[in-house]
Amino acid sequence: MNIQTFPSYDDMSLHAAQIIANVVRTKPDAVLGLATGSTPIGTYRHLVRMHKEGTLDFSRVTTVNLDEYIGLPDTHEQSYRRFMEEHLFQHVNLDPARTFLPDGMAEDPVAEGARYDELIRRLGGTDIQLLGIGYDGHIGFNEPGDVFVKATHPVDLDPSTIQANARFFASEAEVPRRAITMGMGAIMGAHRVLLLASGQGKKAVFDASANGPIVPQVPASILQLHPDVTMMFAEG
Ligand code: F6R
Repeated sequence: MNIQTFPSYDDMSLHAAQIIANVVRTKPDAVLGLATGSTPIGTYRHLVRMHKEGTLDFSRVTTVNLDEYIGLPDTHEQSYRRFMEEHLFQHVNLDPARTFLPDGMAEDPVAEGARYDELIRRLGGTDIQLLGIGYDGHIGFNEPGDVFVKATHPVDLDPSTIQANARFFASEAEVPRRAITMGMGAIMGAHRVLLLASGQGKKAVFDASANGPIVPQVPASILQLHPDVTMMFAEG
C-alpha cells in the first residue's frame, strides 16, 4: 500500500488527476471506476482542465460509478448521475452511452445489483477505482457491519452517513435512506485503487483503514489486501 500525504486539498486533487490521466493516456479505452461526494470534486476539476487544454481524451473511456441513491431519478438534482454530469461528464468528451451508474429507480434493487456486477465483469473490471471514505470508514456505501459484502447490493444508510450527506439536501429528512452500492468484489477487482481523504476529521479513520486490523467494522481496511492501492491524505 502506497500512502501519500499532501499539504492541501488541491495538491492531492492534482496528483490524483495525474494518476487517472496517465491511466487514460496509457490505455485510451480504460474503464474508470468513479466516486461522488465532495472529496473527488477537485480531481474532476483537474481532469476537465486537462481535457480543455487538449491533453486528455475521454472519447473511448467507459465509466462505472460506485453507487446511487434508491428512489432518486437521474434528473433529481441530488442524484449521483446528476452529480457526475455536473462535475465531469458534461465537460469532457465521454460517450454518454458508456457512463454507468446503478439504477436507483430499479424495481428490484437486488437484481439491479446483479446486473451491475455482470456489466462490470463484461467490461473486464475497472482499470482504476477512485474512492472517497466516510467518517465511519465506508467505501462506496459499504457501511460498517459484521461482514464484507461481495456483490453490488442495496444498503440501508448508516444514520451518521445520512447526517453527513444532509448538507447536500434541504433537510436531513430529504436524504434517501437507501442506496445501491458496488460491493467489495467489484472494488477489490479493480486493477488499481486510489482512495482520497481530506481534512483532520478523516485522519483517524484513514489511519485505521491503512494500518489497523482488517475488519468489516472499518470497511476500507479491506483495501490492505489489494495489491495496488494508493491512499492519499490532504492535511488541509
Ligand atoms: C460516493 C461514495 C462515498 C463517499 C464518502 C465520502 O460515491 O461512495 O463513499 O466517497 O461518503 O464522502 P465525501 O467525499 O463527501 O466526504
